This record gives sequence, C-alpha cells and structure tokens, in this order.
Amino acid sequence: MRKTLLLAAVFVLMVSLPAFVSAVSDDEAKALFEAKCNLCHSATNATDMRETPDGWRAIVLRMKNDNGCDLSDAQVETITNYLSRHYGR
Ligand code: HEC
Repeated sequence: MRKTLLLAAVFVLMVSLPAFVSAVSDDEAKALFEAKCNLCHSATNATDMRETPDGWRAIVLRMKNDNGCDLSDAQVETITNYLSRHYGR
C-alpha cells in the first residue's frame, strides 16, 4: 500500500515537473526572440551562430546592457534557453 502511494507520488512529480521548468512554450519563446532580436539587425545574426548556453547568455546580456535591447530578466532567460536549445553547440 505504501509502495503504491510512493509510486503514485513519484509519477505525479514526473508528470508535473517539466511544466514548471518550461512555463514558456517553445512557440512563445520563438515569438519573443523574433520580436526582440529583429529590431536592430536581422535575427539571423543569432541563428547563423552556434553557442554554448553560457555563450548565448553573454550575448543576450550584451544586447540588453550595452546595446539597449529592452528585456526583462525573465525574457533574458527565455531567449537564452531558446537559443541554447535550437542553436547550441
Ligand atoms: C537595440 C538594438 C539591438 C537589439 C534589440 C538586439 N541587438 Fe544584437 N546587436 C546590436 C548591435 C549594435 C550589434 C553589433 C555590436 C555588438 O556585437 O555588440 C549586435 C550584434 C549581435 C550579434 C553578433 C555578435 C557577435 O558576437 O558576432 C548577435 C549574435 C546578436 N546581436 C544577437 C542578438 C539577439 C539574440 C538579440 C535579442 C535578444 C539582439 N541581438 C537584439 C544591437 C541590438
């Protein structure tokens, strides 16, 4: 009985955890990236490149802090994760 409960708890966690980790869908992340990163130059500046997650974070932060791209901290995370997933190396 206890084992069944434990298994049920583990199952619920496995199902619900990914929903917390990626609250923003891939489509939403792509839309945000295209809206924010096409403003001063083509977004192909980014999509022509391959970077590590740290590399992408550094670039996105440079756009925000040095070049004046208007991004919240959450948007920096969303775009960094999106670029790392699709244009990683
Ligand atoms: C407010 C204007 C502006 C916005 C918005 C902007 N950029 Fe840039 N971006 C620049 C400028 C200016 C440069 C050239 C100078 C430099 O590399 O910092 C550049 C260069 C780049 C490069 C080439 C850098 C390299 O190392 O070769 C990449 C990649 C890039 N941007 C990605 C992005 C991404 C991703 C976004 C969206 C989060 C973004 N940019 C939004 C102004 C902007």
